[in-house]
Amino acid sequence: MTPDASPSSTISATSPAAVDRRTATREDVSRLLRDKPIILAPMEDVTDVVFRRLSRTLGADLTVTEFVNVEGLLRGCRNARRKLRLADDDALTAIQIYGSDPERLAEAASVAEEAEPLYVDINCGCWVPKIAARGAGAGWLRDPDAMVKMVSMVVARVKRPVTVKTRIGYGPESHMPIVELAARLEQTGIAALTIHCRTANMGHKGNADWKWAGLAQERVQIPVIVNGDVVSGEAAESALRSTKAAGVMVGRRAIEHPWVFREIRHRLATGTDLPAPTTKERFDLCRTHLLANVAERGLPHGVRVTRRHLTGYLSGIPGAAMLRQALFREDDLAKNLELIDEAEARAEKWTREGRTEPNRSEPNDIELSQPEQVVADHKSDAFANDAVSVA
Ligand SMILES: Cc1cc2nc3c(=O)[nH]c(=O)nc-3n(C[C@H](O)[C@H](O)[C@H](O)COP(=O)(O)O)c2cc1C
Repeated sequence: MTPDASPSSTISATSPAAVDRRTATREDVSRLLRDKPIILAPMEDVTDVVFRRLSRTLGADLTVTEFVNVEGLLRGCRNARRKLRLADDDALTAIQIYGSDPERLAEAASVAEEAEPLYVDINCGCWVPKIAARGAGAGWLRDPDAMVKMVSMVVARVKRPVTVKTRIGYGPESHMPIVELAARLEQTGIAALTIHCRTANMGHKGNADWKWAGLAQERVQIPVIVNGDVVSGEAAESALRSTKAAGVMVGRRAIEHPWVFREIRHRLATGTDLPAPTTKERFDLCRTHLLANVAERGLPHGVRVTRRHLTGYLSGIPGAAMLRQALFREDDLAKNLELIDEAEARAEKWTREGRTEPNRSEPNDIELSQPEQVVADHKSDAFANDAVSVA
């Protein structure tokens, strides 16, 4: 991570102006992306319609779908169709595609644009061997000439603006190709470039080296979005200051702590940090996310896909470890909600008593309702709650 030694005046982050994703031009998209946007990174099995909505509610300006495989997309397979579906409130959402064949990518991009995304993003950064070894994702970094040609083809084929997300190099180069590549990609007509500041060989390990995003931004006029290790308001401020990049993209931190978006927004606007989320906000988010995922994906999938978030949401809460174990064994929605309510009541009691650990002999003194009633009560609570409504 690049340290920041600059003084601490604020960076003003302007919320993107209202733009109609269906009609936004390349210039509109470049303008939005130049305006210090805070972007939710594309993440497979994470950035679905529910999590995008939740992230926006907590302060993300723009969101990107999970990557969609071009072959699945062109065959119209169910999972690809699910990933392509944008909700009405996905106003500032891009669709990301990946593949290894330029012609198929161009074809898939023109199908993806029928879903009317704000823009189509091409994944040239996925390091996962079964993808990169086949020439898709970061595999494109092995042959920059082919990558530039492929991006030109996609840009020429579609009406929607196109962007690229890539890495600083494949690795272990002594000098990363990204700066020269950024200049060549700009010539293809893309609206912006996101740089995950690690090499493909690094996967998600080691520190992101933001300086490459800065060097690329110095070289090109299009907005460069800096990605990798943007985990807090302070990190976002430091990344923007040290690179002069146009915006930041947040990945893994959002999975466990989606409040990071409002924290970044506040830090960029005021130069100060927001207090951590309250215990009530943490429990509320567990409930709201579970309910929304079950409404979207049904049972048991809706419950299961929420699990990866719960450990982070419950971080620092007394009794969290015990609750997590119980939740991870339970596929039933009502039972999950019941366990959360029970844990919240306990956490409040322990906090009042100044305790952080359970007393093993403590009786379960919390009265439980009927499962159907638990779900009905929570539905009306969660969806009436403006703070984090992800209905
Ligand atoms: C679970 C997971 C799934 C991901 N899926 C995608 C994806 O579909 N497309 C993509 O471009 N990057 C994907 N990424 C990479 C992230 O978008 C991001 O570039 C990376 O996590 C670095 O950012 P971070 O340090 O903020 O996490 C994924 C990362 C994770 C952890």
